Amino acid sequence: MRLILIGPMASGKSTVGRRLSKRLNLNFIDIDEEVEKSAGVSISWIFDVEGEEKFRERETKELVKSLNYDKCVISTGGGTVLSEKNRDILKKGTVIYLETSIQTQLERTINDKNRPLLKESNDREQTLRELKKIRDPLFNKCADITIKEAKNSHNEVVDEIVIKLGIKWKK
Ligand code: S3P
Repeated sequence: MRLILIGPMASGKSTVGRRLSKRLNLNFIDIDEEVEKSAGVSISWIFDVEGEEKFRERETKELVKSLNYDKCVISTGGGTVLSEKNRDILKKGTVIYLETSIQTQLERTINDKNRPLLKESNDREQTLRELKKIRDPLFNKCADITIKEAKNSHNEVVDEIVIKLGIKWKK
């Protein structure tokens, strides 16, 4: 059983993923964290010094490594769906898309200094809209299960995932 969370920045992938893994007694893997651990530096540093392309390579490498585990919940980064190779890897799990509105993303990232794509932006709303336009179709394409934008708390999202898994389960 491998559950993979996808969705835009600040959709709650890491928090929901960690809680979901506890609930189902599975290991938890956060790809962003794994990238930072392997590199020994922060994602911001990687973007600043090595550039986004190199970050994407590191992200794919960690995603491939995560396939060594099969009883796990994996939280991905917002840009994971961009590459075809990554999208193929996602097929090896049950993919859960946490749909999230721009408004919610803006509220949750208001003081955020760690997300390079927002840090560099003069107009966060516009940046998020541009990312959404490109990525939403990919999120939808990859998703086995979609959790609709939540007024829900993270715990309610976990509840909803558990219920939906009961009816849609790959292995
Ligand atoms: C990114 C999202 C981040 C992180 C990196 C790039 C993106 O992850 O992987 O900053 O391209 O949207 P979160 O979705 O966890 O913020």
